[in-house]
Amino acid sequence: MPEGGLPRGDWSYPTAIRFGAGRLSELPDACREAGIEHPLLVSDPGLVEAGLVARAEGAITSGNLKTGLFTGIQGNPTGANVEAGIRAFHDGGHDGLVALGGGSAIDVAKTIALMSGQTRPVWDFEDREDWWRRADASAIRPLIAIPTTAGTGSEVGRAAVINDETTGHKKLIFHPLLLPRVAILDPELTVGLPPAITAATGMDALVHNLEAYIARGHHPIAEGIALEGLRLIAENLERACQNGADLHARGAMLVGSAMGAIAFQKGLGGVHALAHPVGSLFDTHHGLTNAVLLPYVLAFNMPVVGDKLARLARFLDLGDHTPQAVMRWALELRRAVGIPHDLGALGVSEGDIPRLVPLAADDQAAAGNPRSLSNQDIAALYSDAIVGRLADN
Ligand SMILES: [Fe+2]
Repeated sequence: MPEGGLPRGDWSYPTAIRFGAGRLSELPDACREAGIEHPLLVSDPGLVEAGLVARAEGAITSGNLKTGLFTGIQGNPTGANVEAGIRAFHDGGHDGLVALGGGSAIDVAKTIALMSGQTRPVWDFEDREDWWRRADASAIRPLIAIPTTAGTGSEVGRAAVINDETTGHKKLIFHPLLLPRVAILDPELTVGLPPAITAATGMDALVHNLEAYIARGHHPIAEGIALEGLRLIAENLERACQNGADLHARGAMLVGSAMGAIAFQKGLGGVHALAHPVGSLFDTHHGLTNAVLLPYVLAFNMPVVGDKLARLARFLDLGDHTPQAVMRWALELRRAVGIPHDLGALGVSEGDIPRLVPLAADDQAAAGNPRSLSNQDIAALYSDAIVGRLADN
């Protein structure tokens, strides 16, 4: 890193990552590296309005590449969005994709990359057993991913979340080749994110790292990544919310977000398991929902992960090196960035618990939680979170 300058780097784990301010300009080079001559740019209408799509198009054409544009994406993208994108891909004669956006745009682009050359329906590639082997791998197109939020980390992941509108279920579509060939992490693209979205997406990244760190299973590599991801977020989330133009903080949040998604290959836990049904039934923001639920699930898990939380407290230098210090830090950070304390504030009430519990119990993330979650435990956690009841730890 140049002395006093903004940091930058070129990394190849788990894919090629080009990190640094202004690196959007390297998009044509990244396309050629991935074998793409005529990309379809996949983004969303909000980013057209924000001017980021024009910047990406300008970067592509400055490298003498021709591009097409597809922005037919909803906040919770659907199978129909993917179908429309596949048509745009074929109609334009494209040979690869550039995804610019948050998790939704990146996930739709990944699914177009998978589906443009397959004969089976997309739901045949849901992340179950080894269904991904059904895909014709030679027909999967290359993809460059450029995140404009620091939260999901989808740019370094091999799965996409698509809503099956015929059943109302969010489905995880998986194939190892969905991993983008190149991810460009350019903090200049996130400076316009409003503080509330910065906070909610940033808390999602925090929860990815924290849930992965304490998840069941032996995965020291993921845990090491999660610890450093947590440190980056601990030191930079509030700064990024207070001053959106702080490129150091924005850059650190992008890296912390990518690290969270790399780490959660190990697994997630109860926060995500309880947040997913709330998001489905109440259309709440995923990161915001996680942020509200975090302390309740953390309190539940504390008896079985005390050593790990104490280690985290030492690493984050939280004053006293105890699990309780981690809880105080999470609560303080949550308050500082404007996250509400209870699920009641998101419109959830006690009467909703019977509908939520079976969905949370079935959620894939529940299996990763370090302490077994019975249906009674889940109901009690929802109840606590709805009214904001948090025992002194
Ligand atoms: Fe998440």
